[in-house]
Amino acid sequence: MSEKIESAEDRYILPTYHKLNLVASKGYGPYIYDTSGRRYLDFMAAYGVAILGHCHPDVVEAIKSQAERLISCHASVYSEARTEFVETLSRVAPSGLKSFFLCNSGAEAIEAAMKFARKATGRKGFIAFNGGYHGKTFGALSITGTERYRQPFEPLVGPVTFAEYNSTEGLETLPWSEAAAVFVEPVQGEAGIRIPSAEFMSSVARLSRESGALLVVDEIQSGLGRTGRMWAHEHFGMNPDMMTVAKGIAGGIPFGVTLVNEKIASNITLGDHSTTFGGNPLACAAATAVLSVVEKKKLYERASELGRKFSAGLKDLGSFRIVKESRVIGLMAALELRIRFNRVLEEALADGLLTLYAGRNNIRMLPPLIIDEHHIDNALAILGRTLEKVQKESLSI
Ligand SMILES: Cc1ncc(COP(=O)(O)O)c(C=O)c1O
Repeated sequence: MSEKIESAEDRYILPTYHKLNLVASKGYGPYIYDTSGRRYLDFMAAYGVAILGHCHPDVVEAIKSQAERLISCHASVYSEARTEFVETLSRVAPSGLKSFFLCNSGAEAIEAAMKFARKATGRKGFIAFNGGYHGKTFGALSITGTERYRQPFEPLVGPVTFAEYNSTEGLETLPWSEAAAVFVEPVQGEAGIRIPSAEFMSSVARLSRESGALLVVDEIQSGLGRTGRMWAHEHFGMNPDMMTVAKGIAGGIPFGVTLVNEKIASNITLGDHSTTFGGNPLACAAATAVLSVVEKKKLYERASELGRKFSAGLKDLGSFRIVKESRVIGLMAALELRIRFNRVLEEALADGLLTLYAGRNNIRMLPPLIIDEHHIDNALAILGRTLEKVQKESLSI
């Protein structure tokens, strides 16, 4: 294994992230390069942010030309770039969600949705799901379903009731009538690509409709074509009241959006919410470029086709005893191991494939949607070699 990197990052940045042995220096398309010029196939894609790969020419051009015109413009002043972005987003947004709050990250988009839900309903509570991930700011953390993330920071926003994801048992008995909203991921990403049943998702939608608790779909990881549909909730025919989007929307420039229906929009008034950087022109120009490419190239269709190939290849890797199962929807994939993720992640990286993890046992992959079949073949070949090596190692212990 290569030598441990010594970096000022470890000296100066608080140790809240699991660090990998890689110093990135540049990236093009599905590849990222280290400082020695070595190339890695990037199936981490900055946790799903690089949906068009690295430095997509349209995104680079949009950022460059916007940087030469106007970089900052507060939301109290109209901006050409912001206008173009919201017109573009309104074209691809779900039909009932045509009003937007613009911010800078996933957690911020969730915070806004929580506030808007309380204001629209006059209710205080929230319903969320075990294993769900919505971010780590106070509000978002309050509805994130992993206790060890929440516990050190309590008391959080409440009351929040957590229910079993993908189980209809007991769903009806949750405190729906006191809930301002239910927050649900159409596919749980951080939990290791958990794909729910249509029955579960339609029960959540029905109970929210019947009780007046607003239905919020968190598409921060699953949106923008990743699962084979523009929005993952389309797989389940849902009509959400709100949707949150972030990660890849501006090709790597921080950006989050809370999309709301007309009824919620009519309830929001001056001063209810704001953020200094929200809808800044640079992010808006980049996001217009990203949405235009996703739309024009129908990248959701590509994700769906390539996902089938990836799914078949990952299933074959199930022949390794250290693999428990694989779960794939579009280009959102997890390989669940019977061992901790660390050795597989490190060995795959040493062999030229960058992935990420989920929980303690999942190798997660969120590759750019612009990849070709040969990138999938290459990733599968590396994973095959890696599993063989790590399996041998773990059997010899
Ligand atoms: C589904 C989901 N919601 C919310 C978030 C939080 O986004 P951010 O890390 O930009 O705050 C994430 C991040 O991984 C996510 O996957």
